[in-house]
Amino acid sequence: MKSLKQLAVSTAALGVALGLSFAAQAEMMIGFSQIGSESGWRTSETESIKAEAEKRGIDLKFSDAQQKQENQIKAVRSFIAQGVDGILLAPVVETGWDQVLQEAKDAGIPVVLVDRGVAADESLYLTKVASDFVVEGALAAAWLAAETNGVCDVVELQGTVGSSAANDRKEGFESVVGNFPGISIIRSQSGDFTRSGGKEVMESFLKAEDGGKNICAVYAHNDDMALGAVQAIKEAGLNPGDDILIVSIDAVPDIFKAMADGDTNATIELNPHLGGPSFDAIAAAKEGKEVPKWIKANGPLYLPDTAAEEYKMRSK
Ligand code: AHR
Repeated sequence: MKSLKQLAVSTAALGVALGLSFAAQAEMMIGFSQIGSESGWRTSETESIKAEAEKRGIDLKFSDAQQKQENQIKAVRSFIAQGVDGILLAPVVETGWDQVLQEAKDAGIPVVLVDRGVAADESLYLTKVASDFVVEGALAAAWLAAETNGVCDVVELQGTVGSSAANDRKEGFESVVGNFPGISIIRSQSGDFTRSGGKEVMESFLKAEDGGKNICAVYAHNDDMALGAVQAIKEAGLNPGDDILIVSIDAVPDIFKAMADGDTNATIELNPHLGGPSFDAIAAAKEGKEVPKWIKANGPLYLPDTAAEEYKMRSK
């Protein structure tokens, strides 16, 4: 599996392979429609993309949609009206994008989907720079199956309803646990990718499952919800990471602290550094170069053994 450092090298290599220089990008004006700031990972992604734009001298027009698709559609239309060179779109949900993507295409403006996907024809966007969420879910399930010898009653904290991250992480997890008759998903509900949502839903799971006695593990679609679940489990008088196992996705600094403290058991890294390959793709398209339809950025699974060291490195 690749580390973040290796991913940075391989995405830089993509730019070189496409024959691009930062100088060619310095005159670009790019619009970025971000979902919001629901999680620690999302905040890191925003900071990373802004920093990458600054490094390259790109004029980045940033818009925070506050979790609303209608705000994202308005932002994309405003970017089109401003005549940007390209648009980065982190779509909050999968459906409902065809019309606005067609408008961008008609205006000759390439759209890069960053981090999440859409259920629209591929011809409507330039590329998707994102992890394979199905693989992340499958990896979480494979870890859990090995850890529990294939016997476990799991509760699932889903991400935002209708998002590709939630849909695909669910699909990937189910595709693996389906091979283990001793593993059941006994409850599943959205915590909207937030810490407070994860805590609230976990509290209701604990109540419904005899104070948590019947729960063997939590599968959280992101670290923030897992951290919310940790609080709920502690308040219910149980030991998270021991009485109830926890596996989640993102690899934010706080989850390494929780793992080092024994409160959670595994996380899968989601690379937040998606600006470089996205800007490279737009510049390449401007020069008439071929761009792959999906630039993948998958990360590894981390366990408590390296958590303290990872926390130290990542929280600097
Ligand atoms: O789309 C990726 C997900 O969105 C991250 O896992 C989550 O933390 C974020 O809010």
